[in-house]
Amino acid sequence: MSTVPKPPPRRKVTTLRLQEMKTQGERIAALTAYDWLMARLLDESGIDVILVGDSAGMVFAGHDTTISMTMPQMLYHASVVARAARRALVVGDLPFLSYQLSEKEALRNAGAFMKEALVEAVKLEGGEMICPTVRRIVDAGIPVMGHLGLTPQSIHKFGTYRTRGVETGEAEQILRDARALQDAGAFAVVLEKIPSELAREVTAALRIPTIGIGAGAECDGQILVSHDMLGLFTRFRPRFVRRYAELGKAMQDAFRQYTADVKAKTFPNAEESYWRDEELAGGES
Ligand code: KIV
Repeated sequence: MSTVPKPPPRRKVTTLRLQEMKTQGERIAALTAYDWLMARLLDESGIDVILVGDSAGMVFAGHDTTISMTMPQMLYHASVVARAARRALVVGDLPFLSYQLSEKEALRNAGAFMKEALVEAVKLEGGEMICPTVRRIVDAGIPVMGHLGLTPQSIHKFGTYRTRGVETGEAEQILRDARALQDAGAFAVVLEKIPSELAREVTAALRIPTIGIGAGAECDGQILVSHDMLGLFTRFRPRFVRRYAELGKAMQDAFRQYTADVKAKTFPNAEESYWRDEELAGGES
């Protein structure tokens, strides 16, 4: 007998539903997708939120950071994911410099995610400094998810992937940033790689849900990069990544076996080939 839990009933997930889940103490499960097939599999598994993350720059495109992702690239990924998802809330990640130059440009780009890619919310990185922009986007009717702690678009400013918010000053700033995002109208905040105690404090201080990645068990929800938890992206492995499968290894085994079969002339066999007599008799439809 399988021990894999059955997916929950198919009620469409909205930002309001996420708020209800926080209130009711029901954890929010979020994962990333960049393509239709992954998004469809996630959606059918009962995931609550699918983030079309700019982690695509690393995981899908093979760059060292997320910084090079562009609006056209993100819109393409977001549009194929949004087409696949029926139940999950789909969030599009605003790429580096698509929201920092002016509030007007930020609104235009957030709007493009909604109008062209048909996602239901956008995510951006930053705290108090970015709040006027968050307010402008939310006022236009676009739900915004914040992102604090280790914000990968600022990796060159940090110069390190170490845990954020360890020192008191930075921890207090993260708490202020989280409150400011809530006041600016954000519907949720991602907390990345911060101490569990700080994530607990932020979660208790906010009415809106926190979604943790490397932020301990007391956030209102959790998010991982799907390719990390599936064992597909293995270039590095922070300790917050729990591997639920080893698909990278399974795929390589399959590719190696296929190559060996082709070379040994055992693929295709007679049943995997078409024959004139069978085709004349009706063949494969
Ligand atoms: O881009 C991304 O996938 C993200 C998540 C890791 C939160 O921002």
